[in-house]
Amino acid sequence: MAVRSVAVKKQQTAPEFEQLPLFDTHPEVRLDFSHVREALKQGYTKPFLLVDTSIVRTKVRRFKAAMPRVHPHYAVKANPDPRVLATLIEEGAGFEIASIAELDLLLGLGVPAAEIYYSNPMKSRDYLQYAAKRGVEWYVLDSVEELRKIASVKADARLYVRIEAPNIGSDWPLTGKFGVKNEEVDGIVAEAARLGADLAGVTFHVGSQCRNPENWRVGIQSAKRVFKKMRLAGLKPRLLNIGGGFPVRHVKPIPSIEKIAEVVNHAIRDMPQGVRIMAEPGRYLVSDAGYFVCRVVGTATRSGKRWMCWDAGVFGGMIETTEGLRYDVLTDRTGKPGPWCIAGPTCDSVDVCMRDETFPEDMQEGDFIYVANAGAYTTAYASSFNGFPLPEVRVI
Ligand SMILES: Cc1ncc(COP(=O)(O)O)c(C=O)c1O
Repeated sequence: MAVRSVAVKKQQTAPEFEQLPLFDTHPEVRLDFSHVREALKQGYTKPFLLVDTSIVRTKVRRFKAAMPRVHPHYAVKANPDPRVLATLIEEGAGFEIASIAELDLLLGLGVPAAEIYYSNPMKSRDYLQYAAKRGVEWYVLDSVEELRKIASVKADARLYVRIEAPNIGSDWPLTGKFGVKNEEVDGIVAEAARLGADLAGVTFHVGSQCRNPENWRVGIQSAKRVFKKMRLAGLKPRLLNIGGGFPVRHVKPIPSIEKIAEVVNHAIRDMPQGVRIMAEPGRYLVSDAGYFVCRVVGTATRSGKRWMCWDAGVFGGMIETTEGLRYDVLTDRTGKPGPWCIAGPTCDSVDVCMRDETFPEDMQEGDFIYVANAGAYTTAYASSFNGFPLPEVRVI
């Protein structure tokens, strides 16, 4: 049976970017589908993510080529599979962590602690002590309280403050939870100077799957203003961390990394050479390397609507379907397109991935579902809620 993309037809261009066709011209990569067929020949017992590490390599190289001054520190949360991490290590990436479990994973793979940035704005005292003991030097904060907490655990920590940046046009916005506003930075800078803490950097996050390069420009300009405040307070700013958010192609148009790089490279052109510039790409480095494969458990008609239940839903790897992110989903069916509601296998009412999404009308129990460019934030998010197995990661 021919594989065809069905959902893609409905999930067309977001209106705000229709005027910007140039943003979508660069060819993007995708794991060759023949590998998925091969993997299925080895059997299927539960959902799996098939990852091609050679694509991860290509993406690191492309990122570095586009922004030679910006050192990539991979956000481990996007996909913490040790084989993926090993590939990134070989390609010379640094890392960004959210927890000490991620730290242990990296240390176990031989990553020097100095290459690991602790970018979770809220860390428990226990976690801080653990990280400090193992040699992590750089820690983020976005409050006076966190500044004092870190300083009390590790007086010589190197610190960077997370500031607010626009998340306009990001499919998975992060603003509103983290990041201080301009006027709130002053108190943090003053307290760092008073404590003699080494507040040495600024970071921001433009939101994940960010399709608007302007957010980086605004974020960098804001960071430069904070640098000035830091210098005036007698601090020595020397780190600019432009965070993650670099998008991958699903079904909506994206700016290529080269287009984003034009904006970033221009915005950082006057940064002194002594300033280290880094980014924290997660999704960009791993998403294109993977196909997520799951299966139809059953179908039903409820209140006149067609329902399809997959063996992986919101809790099993498909959580990003619940926000603005739209995957390119393929099936083997060739029937007439029709509206379907897609649920996961659990009994929870939030376990609904899509409503009125277009799939072939002849979808049936046992059919495979192939989710393209799904190497990031799928298996990493999955839980075994309701007793369903975690998806496995198969690497080629
Ligand atoms: C602090 C931090 N850095 C980097 C990332 C990676 O973002 P992305 O995968 O969109 O590149 C995240 C994602 O949530 C994050 O919280």
